[in-house]
This record gives sequence, C-alpha cells and structure tokens, in this order.
Amino acid sequence: MRCKITNKQLNPFMSFGKMPIANGFLNKNDFSKEFFFNMEIGFNEEIGLFQLNDHPKPETMFNKNYPFFTGSSVYMKAHFKMYAESLKKFLKSDSRIIEIGSNDGTFLKNFVDSYENVLGFEPSKNVADKAMKQNIPTENIFFNRENVRNFKEYLGNTDLICASNVICHVPDLKNLIEAVDLLLSKSGTFVFEEPYLGSMFERVSYDQIYDEHIYMFSVTSVSKIFEKFNFVLVDVFPQITHGGSMRYVIKRKNFKDKSDNVKKTLITERDRKLDKIESCLNFKENCELSKLKIIKKIKAFKEEGKSICGYGATSKSTTILNYCNIGTNLIDYICDTTTEKIGKFSPGMHIPIKNMDYFKKNQTDCVYLFAWNHKDEILNKEKDFKGKWFSHVEV
Ligand code: TYD
Repeated sequence: MRCKITNKQLNPFMSFGKMPIANGFLNKNDFSKEFFFNMEIGFNEEIGLFQLNDHPKPETMFNKNYPFFTGSSVYMKAHFKMYAESLKKFLKSDSRIIEIGSNDGTFLKNFVDSYENVLGFEPSKNVADKAMKQNIPTENIFFNRENVRNFKEYLGNTDLICASNVICHVPDLKNLIEAVDLLLSKSGTFVFEEPYLGSMFERVSYDQIYDEHIYMFSVTSVSKIFEKFNFVLVDVFPQITHGGSMRYVIKRKNFKDKSDNVKKTLITERDRKLDKIESCLNFKENCELSKLKIIKKIKAFKEEGKSICGYGATSKSTTILNYCNIGTNLIDYICDTTTEKIGKFSPGMHIPIKNMDYFKKNQTDCVYLFAWNHKDEILNKEKDFKGKWFSHVEV
C-alpha cells in the first residue's frame, strides 16, 4: 500500500498473520462468512509514521452496530471530564465545539450545559443514537471533507475540534486534515489523543494494533504530518489512558506560542530512535518473544489442571488470541459488560462471550486480563476473586 501522506510505497516489516475484524463479535451461524485480512505493518521513515499496510474499509468496521461504548468505563468518564475542563481555556462563551467520532457522547456531555454550539460526528448508528437520546447533538456520518462541506456555512469558524482514540482510525489522514481546515477558525485549536507509539514499544503492547488502529502516532510523526498542511503542533501531554497515550494540540501555522514539551519530546524520541525503522525491528523481536512467553504460561497453567477465562472482550484481545492462536482449548470463555458482545463469539478464535453474572458463577483458577488498561478499575470491582490474574503486559 502507499502511505496516504507521502504517497510512498510502504514496505511491511512485520506480519501478525490472518486477522478478523477486531470488533467483529459474531454468532455461530456467521462463522463461515467471517472476513479476514493479512495484518502487516510498515514504517514510513520520512514522516516517522508506524502504520498498517492494508486494512478493511471503514464501513466494514464502523457500521450500524459498533459494540464499543466510551461510557462503559467509570475511569474513562472521569478522564473525559478532566480532558474537557482542560480545553475550556481555548473557548469563548459563544464558541463552537466539534468532536470527531463522538461515540455515545461521553465527552461532549461535559460541554452541552455551558455551550450552545456543540456537535458530534459519529458514523456508527447505535452509539450515535445513544448520544442523541441524551440530547447531545450528533450527526450520524463520517467526518470527512465531502461530508463537512455541507456544514461549512454554519460550522465554519469552529474554535475547538477534538477527538479521542479516533484519528488513528482514519485511513485518509489528508482528507481528515482538510476537513478540519475547512471548519476551524483562524485562531482555533484541534486537539486529539491517541495511543502512543513510545508506550506501545516500551510495554510490547502489540495488541494496540488491529484493523481500526491504522496508525500508531508519535510526536515526531504528528509534527511532520501537520506541517505538510500548514498546521503546527504546539503542545503535547502524555496520558496514562489505553496503556499510554499522547494528547496533541494543533494550531494554524502562524501560531507562535509553542510549548517546550514538543521540543523536549522530539529529542527524547530521536534518542529512542522512534523515528527510525530500527526501533520497529526491535519491537518485532519483542512481539515474537512475548507470544512465546504467553503461550508457555497458558500451557503451564493447563498442565497444572487450571481453568482459564478472559476478562474484557476488548478489540485488543482479538489481536492477542489470533496472533498467539489461543482458542477454546485454552480459554473457556471471556466475560464482558457490553450487551452487544454477550452471547456472541470472539472474532477468529470463536471463544464464547459471557456476562459478568456468568463470571461470578463460573469462576476459573486463572483470568487473562485482556482489558489490562483498566486494571485498577477492574481489580477494585473484583476484589472477591481469589484466583490468579495475568496478562502479556506488565501493568
Ligand atoms: P478497552 O480497553 O477500552 O477496549 P478496546 O481494546 O476495545 O479499545 O475495553 C473495553 C472493553 O472492556 C469493553 O468490551 C468493556 C470491557 N470492560 C468490562 O467488561 N469491564 C470493565 O470493568 C471495563 C472497564 C471494561
């Protein structure tokens, strides 16, 4: 595939093999029609961008029944409240605010009482409906150049455009940035946060890679990408969410007041070689070691006669289970709170998804914490579980 920003051919340096749609939880009678793609990764050294070589069409992933609700984590709700508070410094009382990929409205909810002009763009119907039921203005469409043109007349001059865990999902970044350009006011701010390449390399949390996560950004890559479109990265804030994320603050090119955080992080990234293929090749080796280690651990549990279930039918778990070839011979079931997933089977490996009541009544000796990024929240809830928690990452 060609990189959408530089139009250069990408040479994959690693393959995770055949992968299904990460959020494609399915019924038994759909097993035979399941969609798979070859999950390969490439690195564009010119802009330091880590990306999937090929990916399914967004319409295949963000359809009428997307089974992810931002509001399913109490911690994430609190995080979005603080995030929203920190952005109010960019706003006037009559400012317009847009969120790209607004999901169930968890983030925008923090603005609707004090600001009149709030709008979410959300392509997945079920989550957009949930937001609208809570009176959060939402357009059930993709945020792209073609769609936002129809809104320019009354949405031009938007002071704040934000996104969380969304920009890495957008295959055509050029188109997205041009759409931002159409709507953002002259002194407007575009803020987004995404899982961070540096954290993924450090933790070997390769499960951050799946069909929806087309890019894994770094400060280097974001800075270089936006420069190409007359924008400038003016600040960055590391976040602990999703196992290590970065918040990026973007302004139009003429903005002068750049924080030192950007400069300092660019130097750190250069020292860590995050802008070079070497760090990717090192990551590749670490993924292969991680795979061997987790398979060995699970097989040892089984040899000791221990039963295992998974906790959190996350998108991330699809990568782990398929890459490591872990199926029902090793894991009995995965428990989860999401109604849309319960009663279905995990993508590719077809492990049954059960509700939390089932987990309470059918406790296993060991639990693979697939939602490891919510460890504190989950362990706090599950204090009564006396078995062993484990995961492929240290948290
Ligand atoms: P997350 O790591 O945000 O998901 P993803 O890898 O898909 O981005 O985890 C969300 C999933 O974890 C979702 O299916 C709900 C489930 N979950 C629970 O079942 N219980 C919990 O306490 C939490 C926080 C999440």
